[in-house]
Amino acid sequence: MNPARTKPPITGRTLVAGVAGHPVRHSLSPLIHNAWLEAAGLDGVYVAFAPDADRFAVFVEAFRGGAIRGLNVTVPFKEAALACADVVSPRAEMAAAANLLTFESDGTIAADNTDGIGLLGAFEAQAPGFDPKAGPIAVLGAGGAARGAVAALIAAGAPQVRIVNRTLAKAEAVAGAIGRGVVACPLHAAASAFDGVSAVINATSAGLAGEGMLDAPLEAAPGTAVVMDMVYKPLETPFLAKARALGRRTVDGLEMLVRQAVPSFEAFYGVAPPTAQVDVRALALKALGQ
Ligand code: ATR
Repeated sequence: MNPARTKPPITGRTLVAGVAGHPVRHSLSPLIHNAWLEAAGLDGVYVAFAPDADRFAVFVEAFRGGAIRGLNVTVPFKEAALACADVVSPRAEMAAAANLLTFESDGTIAADNTDGIGLLGAFEAQAPGFDPKAGPIAVLGAGGAARGAVAALIAAGAPQVRIVNRTLAKAEAVAGAIGRGVVACPLHAAASAFDGVSAVINATSAGLAGEGMLDAPLEAAPGTAVVMDMVYKPLETPFLAKARALGRRTVDGLEMLVRQAVPSFEAFYGVAPPTAQVDVRALALKALGQ
C-alpha cells in the first residue's frame, strides 16, 4: 500500500528559500525543490516570489537581515541579481548574470550562477560521451541565456564558441566581453558557422510567446553534432524535432533546469538533494502536461 503523502509541518527551524521571477507562477522550481525536501525529510520549504520589476533591488535588500537562506533568480532579474550582490563568483561574473543569491549570516549577499552546471549536466545525462573540449560549439542567440552558455562552455574547455545571432552587433558584444575563443556570426551565415561543430545550442527566445520561430540550417552541422534547446515548453521544440528528424542526438532544456537546481538546493539546505529517491523530471513532465 502507498502511504498517503503528508506535508511536513512548518516549524521554528524551517529553512526557507525560493525563486524570484516575473512572472513566476509557472516556475517548476518550487515543484522540484519541495519534492526533494519531502523525499529527504528535511525541515525546509521553497516558495515563489514575483517582485515588482522596478523594485527588485528593494526586495533583495530586505533579505539581508537573514529572513531566508537564499533565492533562485529567473527572468527578468538575473542581471539585476548580480548587481545586488556584495560577493560574486567568477562564473556569475563571466555570465554577467546570477541565478542564485545566498544570504549569509553576516549580512553579505553572495551571487552565483549554476546554469552552466545545468547545461553541462544535461549534456552528460542525455548525450553521454559528449566532450565540450572535442570541437567548436555553436550557440544561437546573444541575450542573457546565450552569454551564460558561452561562458560555461569556454570555462569547460571548448576550443571555440561561435555565437550566431540575428543581430550581429549583439553577438560581437558578447564575444568581445568573454574574449578568447569566441567568435560572432550573423544568423544568415549559420550554415557556415555549423560546419564541423560538436554541438549546436539554441539559447534564443524564438518560439517563446510573442517571438517568431527559428529556422536554423541544422543539416549543415555534422551528423555527430549534439543539438540542444534551452526552451522546455514544449519539451520537444520544433528545433529539437528537426534535429531528431535529421538523426542528431538531442538534449532538452528541462534536464538543464533540473541539473541547475542541484547546487542551488545544496546552497540553501546544506545537503545534496536526494536525486535517486525522487524523479523530479517525471514530476516536472507531469506538471507540463507531457
Ligand atoms: P534571454 O535573456 O532569455 O537570453 P534576450 O536577452 O531577450 O533573452 O535575448 C533573446 C535572444 O533571442 C536574442 O539573441 C534575439 O536575437 P536579437 O539579438 O537579434 O534580438 C534572439 N531571438 C529572439 N527571437 C528570435 C527569432 N525569431 N529569430 C532569431 N533570433 C531570435
